[in-house]
Amino acid sequence: MVARTVRTDDRPAEAAEPDGAPAAWGHRHLLDVDVLAREDIVAVLDTAEAMEEVLQRRVARTPALRGVTVFNLFYEPSTRTRASFELAGKVLGADVINMTGSGSSVEKGESLIDTVATIRAIGADVIVMRHPSGGAPYLAAQHSDAHVVNAGDGLHAHPTQALLDAFTLRRRLGDLAGKRIVLIGDIKHSRVARSNVWALTTLGMEVTLVGPRTLLPTGLNAAPPASGRDLSLPRVRLEEDLDRAIEGADAVMALRLQRERMQGAFLPSLREFSRRYQITPERMARAREGAAVLHPGPMNEGVEIAADVAHGMQSEVERQVAHGVAVRMAVLYLLTQGVGAAT
Ligand code: CP
Repeated sequence: MVARTVRTDDRPAEAAEPDGAPAAWGHRHLLDVDVLAREDIVAVLDTAEAMEEVLQRRVARTPALRGVTVFNLFYEPSTRTRASFELAGKVLGADVINMTGSGSSVEKGESLIDTVATIRAIGADVIVMRHPSGGAPYLAAQHSDAHVVNAGDGLHAHPTQALLDAFTLRRRLGDLAGKRIVLIGDIKHSRVARSNVWALTTLGMEVTLVGPRTLLPTGLNAAPPASGRDLSLPRVRLEEDLDRAIEGADAVMALRLQRERMQGAFLPSLREFSRRYQITPERMARAREGAAVLHPGPMNEGVEIAADVAHGMQSEVERQVAHGVAVRMAVLYLLTQGVGAAT
């Protein structure tokens, strides 16, 4: 188990600890956002600001996590999350090992629990896991004393995506309390939407979920076993009419159709979905002037978002990806350097 203190020795400026990073955070794992209080989320966002400063240095390196081993264990494809966790660990001076299901002993029948135990025996202090089954990182956390970070589990949760989205929105809009965001498309199969509902409502945003009835959630009040929190979400509104929902919004987030998680036909046709739910320049004209456009990626341009909007002046999509590095640095730092590191 990692239990380190923040070092303040006489390193050169390029190697100094991130200024302004809190030295304590009360969580041992990051499995979802639903257990994070407002101050926990704010601590991540503030620490990510300090990490942004590190990333701007001439030599973007700090030894804050020297001696820490981060193991990226990805059982599903990823571009952004995996690459940014790898870079985040390296910038902080950690040793980073990447492994996918394919090519590992999982292909020889090794169980998830045995794989996690093996990785811990090799020396992993942090296991960053993406898995097609909801709950897999929770299982890993129960069977290992390493810190576990959920990098996306089935259609359940994607906490670091929600945190980087909150970071991006805070930079663009300032205080998020009372601001309105519309999440559009395949809400039902979106772990990003679910984690964002938690993060953004906790920060005081008014969230509207928009999509065809078949792709809107039905079980918003069904608490996952690990949560223990009241999951009634008073600030979440469900809406089928995008033109009505987007009126005056401060931000809109398009979501990809998660075909890999759909069992059965949820849409009469792709064309009909795009006609009703694609974010177009005409629809953006209904939102607040200068409203932010977000998409967690990967995008299907011409389906859920028009190319002009995806790459237009209001788009935050590339900044979301860039912010992912700082936010994941913050998460790695807080887990291994904070209170959670010692409990
Ligand atoms: N948003 C997201 O999780 O992207 P990747 O699948 O590329 O990691």
